[in-house]
Amino acid sequence: MEFILFSSRISEDLKNYLGQLNYSQIGVIMDSNTSIHCYPSIAEALPIAAKIYAFPAGEANKNLETCSLIWKWMTIEGFDRKSLIINLGGGVTGDMGGFCAATYKRGIRFINIPTSLLSQVDASVGGKLGIDFHGYKNHIGVFTEPEAVIISDLFLKTLPETELRSGYAEIIKHGLIRNSNYFHCLKVEGWQNQPWRDIIEKSVAIKKEVVEKDPKESGLRKILNFGHTVGHAFESYYLNSSDHLLHGEAIAIGMICEAYLSHKKLGLSHEELNEIVQMLKSIYGKFNIQKEAISSIIELCSQDKKNEGKTINFSLLKQIGDCDYNISVKNEEIEESILFYQSLN
Ligand SMILES: NC(=O)c1ccc[n+]([C@@H]2O[C@H](COP(=O)([O-])OP(=O)(O)OC[C@H]3O[C@@H](n4cnc5c(N)ncnc54)[C@H](O)[C@@H]3O)[C@@H](O)[C@H]2O)c1
Ligand SMILES: [Zn+2]
Repeated sequence: MEFILFSSRISEDLKNYLGQLNYSQIGVIMDSNTSIHCYPSIAEALPIAAKIYAFPAGEANKNLETCSLIWKWMTIEGFDRKSLIINLGGGVTGDMGGFCAATYKRGIRFINIPTSLLSQVDASVGGKLGIDFHGYKNHIGVFTEPEAVIISDLFLKTLPETELRSGYAEIIKHGLIRNSNYFHCLKVEGWQNQPWRDIIEKSVAIKKEVVEKDPKESGLRKILNFGHTVGHAFESYYLNSSDHLLHGEAIAIGMICEAYLSHKKLGLSHEELNEIVQMLKSIYGKFNIQKEAISSIIELCSQDKKNEGKTINFSLLKQIGDCDYNISVKNEEIEESILFYQSLN
């Protein structure tokens, strides 16, 4: 498992960490926002000769074209097998920068400095790397762990509130699948102001515990996908439209649909279903789904990487804090869960 450091002095901690490593060159990959808001906080810790690359921010750029530009940059700058890449940014930067590093010359080392809440509690831990392809989320990728993950909640100060809210969905998920006390401690009203560092540490501990037990997702790790089968389908469907959804916003819809399926298939109680729905609705509101979108969204669920052959497999809740996996769900049931979401007011 990668080394995870919670830092309140990012520049000093990074400098110390780099001081212990042997590397020929350092390259920093970031996006157009983190290059402005986050790079200044680490610049001092880097050797003068460090090279930087910033791509245009956004999920729409997590694709092969951007990878191609990154690999080209690495080649022109002469990165060799002993080079070190630092991914400074949200989940898009971590997934794509890591993927480029893990494949360049059959793999060079990289570290993650996640700067969005979502990437701090989820994306930067666990070694899943990848890019979107032909409209399918995370369709091409590898499992490779970073050398280290350095997490500082100070970066959250410049993160837009919608992005903070997006990351909060993964935190809610962690409570739902693994720890009901944690879930019940999470704020609904005033969720913007919380002891983030403490929450991030708890969420990372949950993710880490699950990933360590099942690194390659042959079983238990699938519970981290709660809300994601339907959620990813929504995210993919709206990826290139004007009302596109942030990852966490899509997962919030997915968690409502999948809580409904949990109630129907695994006996999640009515009270708990209601509690989950109310919480997510009051934080994320209600998204308007066009009727004509539903069949395409169901179709997209079948592209999910958890599926084996024809059946669509879900991770569903038995109760809050307890999640089961490999639950096969029929298309009609998925449709019913989306109609349930639509019927909420
Ligand atoms: N690998 C995994 O296990 C895993 C898990 C969950 C999500 N993901 C992936 O992560 C991605 C979503 O991550 P994300 O929400 O971090 O997206 P992101 O990387 O696009 O970041 C969100 C936005 O916030 C900006 N930003 C980030 N940090 C900032 C800061 N400190 N100040 C100001 N702006 C900042 C970014 O520039 C971007 O515009 C998706 O592609 C998803 O598939 C991967
Ligand atoms: Zn997610």
